[in-house]
Amino acid sequence: MKMLKFHLQSLSTVMLYILCSIFLVLLVVKTEMEAPETFSFLLKLPMKPQSSLDNPRDLENVQEFQWEADVEKSIEVKPLDVQPLTPAATRHPLQVDYPSNYQFRLNEPNKCLKRTPFLVLLVITEPKDVATRHAIRQTWGNENSIPGFSILRLFLTGVHPIFGSLLQNILEEESVLYRDIIQQDFLDTYNNLTLKTLMGMEWISKFCPNATYVMKADSDIFLNVKYLVFQLLQPHLPPKKDYITGYIYRNTKPIRNKAYKWYVPKEVYPNNSYPPYPGGPGYVLSGDLAKKIYQVAQTIKVINMEDSFTGICLHELGVNVTDSPWGLFNVFKIKYETCRFSKLVVVHHYGPEELLKIWPDFQGQNKTCGS
Ligand SMILES: *[C@@H]1O[C@H](CO)[C@@H](O)[C@H](O)[C@H]1NC(C)=O
Ligand SMILES: *[C@@H]1O[C@H](CO)[C@@H](O)[C@H](O)[C@H]1NC(C)=O
Ligand SMILES: *[C@@H]1O[C@H](CO)[C@@H](O)[C@H](O)[C@H]1NC(C)=O
Ligand SMILES: *[C@@H]1O[C@H](CO)[C@@H](O)[C@H](O)[C@H]1NC(C)=O
Ligand SMILES: *[C@@H]1O[C@H](CO)[C@@H](O)[C@H](O)[C@H]1NC(C)=O
Repeated sequence: MKMLKFHLQSLSTVMLYILCSIFLVLLVVKTEMEAPETFSFLLKLPMKPQSSLDNPRDLENVQEFQWEADVEKSIEVKPLDVQPLTPAATRHPLQVDYPSNYQFRLNEPNKCLKRTPFLVLLVITEPKDVATRHAIRQTWGNENSIPGFSILRLFLTGVHPIFGSLLQNILEEESVLYRDIIQQDFLDTYNNLTLKTLMGMEWISKFCPNATYVMKADSDIFLNVKYLVFQLLQPHLPPKKDYITGYIYRNTKPIRNKAYKWYVPKEVYPNNSYPPYPGGPGYVLSGDLAKKIYQVAQTIKVINMEDSFTGICLHELGVNVTDSPWGLFNVFKIKYETCRFSKLVVVHHYGPEELLKIWPDFQGQNKTCGS
């Protein structure tokens, strides 16, 4: 009876979260639809990409260019007394402010005291992504998916640039319920994404230094944890050192066109090409390397593309990326097929609804597909 009551209570809490988040998402969408035009008019900047063909990143995701608006909003609203904009007036607005002594708003410092995880999943989300986090917990983020293996799941967030304080209460309740959210006090914007990855690396360095492997995952992916663990990481072998793999980009260039959300100004990164790096949607690295990346990031200029920045850190460290067997990490969407998905690691562009839809079938894959 008590158990049932608890379940009902947590169920209604979750329903409340979902309702609140729907409301907030609508509010956010509304504001963001209105705001950028106003600001871009003021700033006289182009709104639409002129051509998406010279764009090496995936083309499906072209969004309107928003950082000016975000910066404006952050000045106006100042939610939850987030760190103020650096006094250095010369700093380009896309220059990532790091290191900057960001503080944890939500933390789980004791997760690794009693266990040494084989794999830590660091999942990038925004404060409002309540439904997404919920879907991930029930699917690939399930910490008990492989009996006998310690898997640890953490969601990484910053502070919403407009509804920071409103969303904070919801986020804190969710955090109390699941104990799987960490948050620092930087503004959660696309151009601050690198700060989120670095928060994850900082967390590993400080609170889970003995983790064997770390996976950085976006929240819109399909992830096959079993295949990752048994086929790629191969736990029967000694832990790999200085290891990082994923979908490897080579010989790519920074995008200098302001119309793209992937714009990187010369002031932020002057070189004409990036060192090899693993594509952002999902990459896996050894725990030792997570600590080294965190350390080296304290000493170099941080750029606003988180995956390219990982490549820059590796370049500084003199560590090479490892190619993964062909087809395991997919930065483009692939249509779901049970047996194909049973033999790969990552597929990009799987939102929460689709994930929940395919998951029961995927769970049955060991019966139908063999090994
Ligand atoms: C990144 O976060 C910092 C700290 O909260 C904030 O001052 C800055 O405006 C953010 N940058 C962008 C581009 O959103
Ligand atoms: C990590 O491993 C070292 C050496 O085995 C040990 O001394 C240390 O207590 C461990 N740290 C944690 C947080 O488990
Ligand atoms: C950028 O270019 C300079 C000068 O050629 C070179 O020394 C440096 O290693 C390059 N950095 C990266 C990250 O490729
Ligand atoms: C990285 O790759 C380069 C080029 O293949 C090679 O010369 C170098 O020795 C490698 N570095 C390490 C640390 O393996
Ligand atoms: C397939 O996997 C599921 C979940 O891991 C497990 O319960 C089931 O026993 C497995 N079936 C076979 C035939 O191995």
